[in-house]
Amino acid sequence: MDTPNGYWMPPAASTVAQSVDDLYFVIFWLCVVFFFIVTGGVVYFAYKYRRKHPDQLATQQIGHNTLLEATWTIIPAILVIWIFVLGFRVYMDLIVAPGDSLEYQVTAKQWAWDFRDPDGCSVPGELHVPAGRPVKLTMRSDDVIHSFYIADFRVKQDVLPGRYSSVWFQADKPGTHNIQCTEYCGTSHSNMFAKVVVHTPEEFANRAQTFCKVTVGKEHGEKLYKNQCAACHTIDGNRLVGPSFKGIWGREGKMSDGSKVIVDENYIVESIRIPTAKVVEGYPPAMPAFPTLTNDDIASIIEYMKTLK
Ligand code: CUA
Repeated sequence: MDTPNGYWMPPAASTVAQSVDDLYFVIFWLCVVFFFIVTGGVVYFAYKYRRKHPDQLATQQIGHNTLLEATWTIIPAILVIWIFVLGFRVYMDLIVAPGDSLEYQVTAKQWAWDFRDPDGCSVPGELHVPAGRPVKLTMRSDDVIHSFYIADFRVKQDVLPGRYSSVWFQADKPGTHNIQCTEYCGTSHSNMFAKVVVHTPEEFANRAQTFCKVTVGKEHGEKLYKNQCAACHTIDGNRLVGPSFKGIWGREGKMSDGSKVIVDENYIVESIRIPTAKVVEGYPPAMPAFPTLTNDDIASIIEYMKTLK
C-alpha cells in the first residue's frame, strides 16, 4: 500500500506525485501564514484604535508610509516569483514525457475509456502498465471533450475530439488505482470510470498469455498501408505521387505555403481526413480523403509509420 500524504490526500503513487503535493503544501502553508497576518492585523487594529469613550474625536487621516508599502510589495513579489519557479519545475516534469516511455493509445467516448498498449493489447475499461517504466498516453476523443484523471498519480489532461493530447506517468509499485473523467460529458459522465493496474515487470511481460488480447496495432496498420496507401507512398524512400513514409515520423517537413510542420499524430490525422490542409512542398495536392478509415485504423497506421525508420 502506498503511503497516504496526511489524511486529506490520496496515496501519492506516481513519481511526480510527491513534488505536486510538496508544491501544494508550500502554497497552502503560505496561505495559512498570510491568513493569520492579515486577519490578526484586522482584529488587533480594530481593538487598539476602537472608540474608547463617546466624546473621542475621529482619528486623524494618516498619509502613506514608504518603508511599510515597499515591504508589503517586495516580500509578496519575491514569494510569488518563488512559487512560479517551483511550479514551473513541477509543470515541466508533468508535461515532458521521458524519451523511453511506453506509448499507449487512449480513446475516450461517451461513456467509456479504451486503452491500447504498444503491442495492441486491450482490456475493456482497464489500463495495464508495468511498474518502474514511464508510460505515455496519446489520447483522443470520439465525441465530446472528456478529461483523464488519476488522482493517486496527480495527473489530469483534457481529451478532445479532432486532436490528440497526451499525459505521462510512472508508477513504481504494483497496485490498482481509479481513473475518472473530470469533464462533464453528458448523462453518464459520473459513471465514466476505469482502472489503472500496475503490474510487476514479469506479470506485464506475460500479459499476452494472461489478461491481454491483440486487436489493433502496427500489424493492422501495415495491412492498411498495403491496401490503402502503398499506391502513392513508398516505404523505401522512393518518390511516387506522394512523399515516402520512410523516416517520416517526427521529421520536420516544408509545406507548399512555406510553413514548416513536424510529422506527429495531429499532422497525420489531418492529412488523412483533410489531405489539402497541409500539402508537402514539391508534391501535387492529389490525395483524396479516406472517410472509411476509422480512428482505430488511423491510430494503427501511425503506429506502423513509427516503425519505418
Ligand atoms: Cu467523459 Cu465526463
